[in-house]
Amino acid sequence: MLHSLAYLGISSPAVDEWPTFATEVLGCMLAEPGPDGAVRLRVDDALWRIQIHPGEVDAVDYFGWAVTDEASLDELQGRLEAEGVEVHEGDAELAAARAVNRIRWFVDPWGYRHELIWGQIIRPSSFRPGRAISRFITGQQGLGHVVVGMPDLERAHDFFTRVLGFELSDKIITDKLEAHFYHVNGRHHSLALGRLPEGVVGFNHLMLQLEAIDDVGRGYDLCLERGVPISKVLGRHANDRMVSFYLTTPSAFNIEYGYGGVEIDEDWTPKTFDKSSIWGHTVHEDNPKPSPGIVRRLG
Ligand SMILES: [Fe+2]
Repeated sequence: MLHSLAYLGISSPAVDEWPTFATEVLGCMLAEPGPDGAVRLRVDDALWRIQIHPGEVDAVDYFGWAVTDEASLDELQGRLEAEGVEVHEGDAELAAARAVNRIRWFVDPWGYRHELIWGQIIRPSSFRPGRAISRFITGQQGLGHVVVGMPDLERAHDFFTRVLGFELSDKIITDKLEAHFYHVNGRHHSLALGRLPEGVVGFNHLMLQLEAIDDVGRGYDLCLERGVPISKVLGRHANDRMVSFYLTTPSAFNIEYGYGGVEIDEDWTPKTFDKSSIWGHTVHEDNPKPSPGIVRRLG
């Protein structure tokens, strides 16, 4: 079954802005570039977790999902094929490019490529953050969470739960937002799905969780000092209780930079919330129309 979010691949014309931004603001470590000149970023001892490929437009290239064991690759492939989704075996070249032992991939009904991987390569005690932070919370909880939107939320719920095995954590339904949150490990959500208008899909943000609130506060100061667009000011979410703010990366998608999310336990019961945040998370006065992320028209 699925274990965690392993990595994220983006392509972007702003690839050259990433090394400075990611190390000095986010605290990532720069890894060796990919074979196509991609900027590869580390947040822990995995060889990379975020990869920005050179490209003409900002686009989501792939989401990487780690599976718990090699047999899960066959099981998930069987479930996907039963839904009419074609699953491709990744060759040795692709496995090497992703720094994993085994890989298969498919494209979901909304056009997003998902890679199912086992055996992400880890180099123990090799991570050094790009600025002074305590650490990123990864490990069993994976890279963080991703938030994707589509018009047919019910169909997406069915696909990601029944076929791929995501479990519902809770829902937030307000006058502006309808979103479902899903876990595959102790992290409150590794995936969230939000409803978008007809004909549109989008990748809104990647969440990175830091161990200390001072890591987040210092990151906030750095965004203000350097003019990095803040898309939501500091706040605390109602559902996962994450204290976070949102910034827009050089490649249109946002990063939620957070601290202190609750963890899923065996007694977890899904709930519905009518507010997304207990406090904060409003837009910043200098950035009244924040980026919706990497949005794409269907069809
Ligand atoms: Fe988030």
